[in-house]
Amino acid sequence: MAQIIDGKAVSAAVKAEVAEEAAKLKEEKGLKVGLAVVIVGNNPASRVYVNNKKKACEAVGFQSFEYALEEATTQEQLLDLVNVLNRDDRVNGILVQLPLPKHIDEKAIINAISPDKDVDAFHPINVGKIMIGDYSFLPCTPAGVMRLIESTGTDITGKQCVVIGRSNIVGKPQAMLLLQKNGTVTICHSKTKNLKEVCLGADILVVAIGRANFVTGDMIKEGAVVIDVGMNRLDNGKLCGDVEFESAEKKASFITPVPGGVGPMTIAMLMKNTLTAAKQQAGIE
Ligand code: GUN
Repeated sequence: MAQIIDGKAVSAAVKAEVAEEAAKLKEEKGLKVGLAVVIVGNNPASRVYVNNKKKACEAVGFQSFEYALEEATTQEQLLDLVNVLNRDDRVNGILVQLPLPKHIDEKAIINAISPDKDVDAFHPINVGKIMIGDYSFLPCTPAGVMRLIESTGTDITGKQCVVIGRSNIVGKPQAMLLLQKNGTVTICHSKTKNLKEVCLGADILVVAIGRANFVTGDMIKEGAVVIDVGMNRLDNGKLCGDVEFESAEKKASFITPVPGGVGPMTIAMLMKNTLTAAKQQAGIE
């Protein structure tokens, strides 16, 4: 039976480290760390995420600046706001919550965010830096996954790592981070033919495909570390991951629950990136 990886506890430890450093920055340098969060429209899930980000800012002692714009906001108006935030010294990090309404080109918005304030690490400059291993910010979810794997005491070097999912936000950067830790990495996706076979070879399995209960226990190698990035809402209102927990926990050595696994880590890593941004902008790091 697997040990459950407690994402809430690990994220609390990350936030405590960040809060301590933020307090020191304020005391020693008079710096107050600030994060701007921009939300456009009324997507209920985005609203929940944005509220959680604001709460996390409060908890670690950051200032948060919320910009809630109406659905009809034009791309030009949003670009104008991003440019204002790029120049605002109180703002160390800028997060534009995705998805954006259909009439706005997400790429154009991401490209407009100053790479120094891009705490999501979505800007092509930051994506490129991750590829060459020379980065300041890691994308929050893959960075959180790495921290969870680390918390199990697993050495990634030489391990077979399988990532299911190839999104720009999770799958692709996740594969890069595992590779940097000397994992032997395979990326699978919805068109992969021999998925079960590939999964059965995985010592470390990270699942981010966005399909409820997609990975079942019979696809998991005995003793594997299983990280479930999925967050799906079933018809009965319950939340579940991309991994069928009951069958998977019988095979895995460590497994993340949903909720309470990867989810809390994403916000903790966002706080860490915002702190890093503030230090860099102050010439401290
Ligand atoms: N929407 C879902 N996840 C994320 C995220 O990590 N960052 C942003 N900006 N939007 C998201």
